[in-house]
Amino acid sequence: MGLLEVKNISHTFGDNILYEKASFEVFKSEHIGLVGQNGAGKTTLLRSLTGEVIPDEGEIKWQKGIKVGYLDQYVNTDDKLKVIEYLKTAFSHLYKLNEELNELYTLMSQEFTDEIFEKSTSYQSTLENSGFYEIESNILKVADGLGITAIGMDRPLENLSGGQKAKIILAKLLLQKPDVLLLDEPTNFLDKEHIQWLKNYLKYFKGAFIVISHDFEFLDEITTAVLDIEFKSIKKYTGNFSKFLKQKNLNKESYIREFKAQQKQIKKHEEFIARNRVRASTAKQAQSRIKILNKMEKLLPPEEAPKPSFTFKSLPIGFQKALIIKDLKVGYTHSLLPRMNLEIMDQEKIVFTGFNGIGKSTLLKTLVGEIPPLAGWFHFFENTKIAYFEQDLKWVDDTLSPLEEIRDAFPKLSQTEIRKNLAKCGLKSEHVFQKICTLSGGEQSKIKICKLMLKKANFLILDEPTNHLDENSKLLLKDQLSKWEGGIILVSHEAGFYKDWSSRVINIKK
Ligand SMILES: Nc1ncnc2c1ncn2[C@@H]1O[C@H](COP(=O)(O)OP(=O)(O)OP(=O)(O)O)[C@@H](O)[C@H]1O
Ligand SMILES: [Mg+2]
Repeated sequence: MGLLEVKNISHTFGDNILYEKASFEVFKSEHIGLVGQNGAGKTTLLRSLTGEVIPDEGEIKWQKGIKVGYLDQYVNTDDKLKVIEYLKTAFSHLYKLNEELNELYTLMSQEFTDEIFEKSTSYQSTLENSGFYEIESNILKVADGLGITAIGMDRPLENLSGGQKAKIILAKLLLQKPDVLLLDEPTNFLDKEHIQWLKNYLKYFKGAFIVISHDFEFLDEITTAVLDIEFKSIKKYTGNFSKFLKQKNLNKESYIREFKAQQKQIKKHEEFIARNRVRASTAKQAQSRIKILNKMEKLLPPEEAPKPSFTFKSLPIGFQKALIIKDLKVGYTHSLLPRMNLEIMDQEKIVFTGFNGIGKSTLLKTLVGEIPPLAGWFHFFENTKIAYFEQDLKWVDDTLSPLEEIRDAFPKLSQTEIRKNLAKCGLKSEHVFQKICTLSGGEQSKIKICKLMLKKANFLILDEPTNHLDENSKLLLKDQLSKWEGGIILVSHEAGFYKDWSSRVINIKK
């Protein structure tokens, strides 16, 4: 048996069947990408593997004694701990052992016995062998790689953004070195350079992993196998991501060929039956054809997953300045970036890249008025109407449904109009009345896109809008932004997403 054996698992939410009787195995040091459209059931599957969610039926068997590390898509820690303290908890068992060792030393200073001495040397060598004395330098290595040292090792976790917390949770996981890593969209909160670091880390990771991602470039470099959730089944392919895509296309083509051939046959039989069943001399032959038809294992029509079809319309623009930024300093307690001076025209499409892991979202939050500037000022011209897409999946009330959320933001829209717009953004009708907190990451992002589309604006401020989005939605969003006539300020780590339409890429260094 491999590390993990999944047998005949099925999962449904109401009428929504995610997968039926799915089986697969994971072997030692296999590096797996888990893919599928938004809402296909990827997160649900990982949660089933960790035991957080119980599938309707089927069996999930881990090899005994396997250590599993899991990073979820949503990130929740309300910790009073400082970053460094939190990272050290990855080794709390060793710190405890060290304390016990110190107690032994105290004891021995009072009264020396051979027994205690032996115990202390055994503790000492355990600590040495498990790298206790290199903990701090190991923590620094990983923290540097993921851009955490730049956030500040002494900041309390509770003050950090979702993205920053995600990095720190990921760092702790990597430090623990489990046998199997389960990562749900780990690149969402990382910058280009940190994604590169993670890529390398995963590529050479000795254990096994299952990583969910919509970033195909990322997957291609790290995977030795792919799990694909589609049409209510889970299929495993061996080989890297490109090989998977090729194989999948071939399978699809041959399936379509088989399906068409079968349809032709079925039609022939049916015509024969229709012609011959009433005539006594041929009724018997018709009967046997009916039996053949009934026996046939009929292929289901190849489904095409529904594609989103939203369109963005910009308010008129005037070919003038949209925004002036003068000596601006942004940050919470201290300035994160150098003073900024910038003028942006109202049809300009600007991308910010290159900050060292912090500062980009803070800049955007300052520009939309969520946090005050530390120094300097900025000014949007009167005709500039902003629409803002914030990075975190944060809702004022996540027990509302998408329908209620949109209705609160746009009270003039009728229910039919709201539903039409949500559907255009790729939300299925069954999700319209569901609580937002039960929707998948991609489904939640689609509600945010819907709000963006409905807002009358001519200047978009977008913070990592492609996080959580599946391939089709990402392509459509890219297309819409390239047609958008107004201005754009975008923060994104996916060059492939913006390089065709951006007018300026600003790489800001400390
Ligand atoms: N508690 C729940 N009640 C009802 N439906 C749910 C619940 N949890 C998840 N779902 C639905 O199950 C489906 C699968 O969700 P899941 O989060 O596994 O998708 P996913 O493949 O991870 O998608 P994404 O790429 O958007 O993250 C979604 O349509 C979601 O709305
Ligand atoms: Mg998910």
